[in-house]
Amino acid sequence: MDEKIAVVTGASSGIGREVARALARRGFRVAMVSRSEVRGADAADDVRGSAPGARVETFFADLSSRADVRRLAERLRERYRRLDVLVNNAGVHLTRAKVSVDGFDRMVATNHLGPFLLTNLLRELLVRSAPSRVVVVASEAHRRAGALDAERFAEPGAYGAAGSHRVYARTKLLNVLFALELADRLEGTGVAVHALCPGPVATGLKRDLPTPSRTSALLARTPLLRTAEQGARPVVRLAADPEFATGTGYHGSVYHGSVRLARLLKESPACRDVELRRTVWERSAHLVGLPSR
Ligand SMILES: NC(=O)c1ccc[n+]([C@@H]2O[C@H](COP(=O)([O-])OP(=O)(O)OC[C@H]3O[C@@H](n4cnc5c(N)ncnc54)[C@H](OP(=O)(O)O)[C@@H]3O)[C@@H](O)[C@H]2O)c1
Repeated sequence: MDEKIAVVTGASSGIGREVARALARRGFRVAMVSRSEVRGADAADDVRGSAPGARVETFFADLSSRADVRRLAERLRERYRRLDVLVNNAGVHLTRAKVSVDGFDRMVATNHLGPFLLTNLLRELLVRSAPSRVVVVASEAHRRAGALDAERFAEPGAYGAAGSHRVYARTKLLNVLFALELADRLEGTGVAVHALCPGPVATGLKRDLPTPSRTSALLARTPLLRTAEQGARPVVRLAADPEFATGTGYHGSVYHGSVRLARLLKESPACRDVELRRTVWERSAHLVGLPSR
């Protein structure tokens, strides 16, 4: 039987690096996608060192750039004849507004438009390789997004550290909307789509915040703040456990190992708005230069 291939974005640090390590240990050949060649190579060496015999390869792309994402997809398609798992994990919380090379809010471009484009460019390969899976690392923060303007969500804004929480939350809402709409569009193809929140995890994600949010400060004093390895566990389960080979949905936040437990906490009302999902998809497709179907 062919070996299984997994692509993990944001693999240079935090949750992504641990997901790559765990999948390599489970026998996947893992494409570790990073933005920085130096950090990506270090992470790959680290994974190889702790998972003897691991088949790990490195790829580089700035996911906030459409051209980079297109190049990345092309390289992945050239390199692999199949794709069993795509983990859209890369993400940032920028503490002041920045504009992407394509003229969008850079946090929205990195966290939503990049993974949206990458997944669509790999869609055929995923369908051809079915049963296969897409896992989207979203966040419970999506509940704090406020009203989403489905036409203007990617426009560059003006915000500082305080306002950045709302924009980050918006990108995570876009993640959940994307996953649910993708699941609908892929129904019957054998590609399972899962989105989740890994819980509060001690990584570099909030490194630029001048002061931690009140929630993070409180969590940091409790055992609820997880290590990157713990944060990776539910991602890996959704990516590789047989019980998640089918089915789809947003799995909420998982604090103590059981993905099932998280199902008690469903997605927010915005995520159940089918019209909103569809409009966001069409707008995203337009922005990245894809047909909307
Ligand atoms: N930590 C938490 O508490 C928490 C909670 C809920 C959800 N999440 C989600 O978990 C995911 C992983 O975050 P983390 O906590 O592991 O943070 P992290 O340690 O900062 O990892 C983020 C990864 O994304 C990469 N990345 C950032 N911008 C990129 C870009 N423009 N192009 C390509 N890659 C880029 C980073 O690469 P560099 O090394 O180049 O920066 C890094 O590898 C994110 O989607 C985040 O929203 C985290």
